[in-house]
Amino acid sequence: MYDVPFVATPEVVVRRMLQLARVQPGEVLYDLGSGDGRIVIIAAKEFGARAFGVEIRKDLYEQSTARIKDLGLSDRASIINGSFYEVPLADADVVTMYLLTSVNERLRPKLERELRPAARVVTHDFEVPGWRPAVVEEVYEDWRSHKLYLYRIPGKEIPLPGKSKPVEDRWLRQVAELIDGNTSLEEIAQKLGVTIRRVREAVEELRKIGAVDEVKVVK
Ligand SMILES: C[S@@+](CC[C@H](N)C(=O)[O-])C[C@H]1O[C@@H](n2cnc3c(N)ncnc32)[C@H](O)[C@@H]1O
Repeated sequence: MYDVPFVATPEVVVRRMLQLARVQPGEVLYDLGSGDGRIVIIAAKEFGARAFGVEIRKDLYEQSTARIKDLGLSDRASIINGSFYEVPLADADVVTMYLLTSVNERLRPKLERELRPAARVVTHDFEVPGWRPAVVEEVYEDWRSHKLYLYRIPGKEIPLPGKSKPVEDRWLRQVAELIDGNTSLEEIAQKLGVTIRRVREAVEELRKIGAVDEVKVVK
């Protein structure tokens, strides 16, 4: 009935997946087909992510939602009961998947359409056909090995300066000073030592006050 049966990723492998993706506090993570919710829970609890799981099975949805509540993580972690083909992913910084190669292939156009440049995708054991991984790693756990694939969505988001210049807020001014029409959100984030998400939020504020004209997306 479902595309993929429930098989859990061992917790040590989950941690390695999240380390590979360099999940940062405040980043948004989606686990597609979240099973018992372990990736979502570890991402929220140990990495400070805002984590969402998408799970089609009602029993697993209920079980993982109850566990999130028991752990006091409901402000940072939640499970959506539905199909991952239907859930919007544009807000994701990181997507994790333990599915099947054929399912990854079916998801690929959606991921390419919706994910922003520099978003990361980590898959367990099954690759995304047609994508070139940035890293492939083998993790040994008990009696078997697990293959992990890390992908980065190509492209850049480049904020274009607007007409209004002076910005009172110190943080917004720091960001505004680095906006020159060539530098990407990712480069600004690296210079300031913060996440792309934080820069994107600042740029959105700057856009509201006219200090940024628009954000050009080059894919
Ligand atoms: C192999 S398990 C992985 C569970 C978890 N992500 C982990 O790594 O421990 C795949 C999960 O995807 C769910 N699933 C299958 N098809 C789905 C769909 N179309 N939408 C959402 N979830 C789905 C299954 O019910 C199962 O729980």
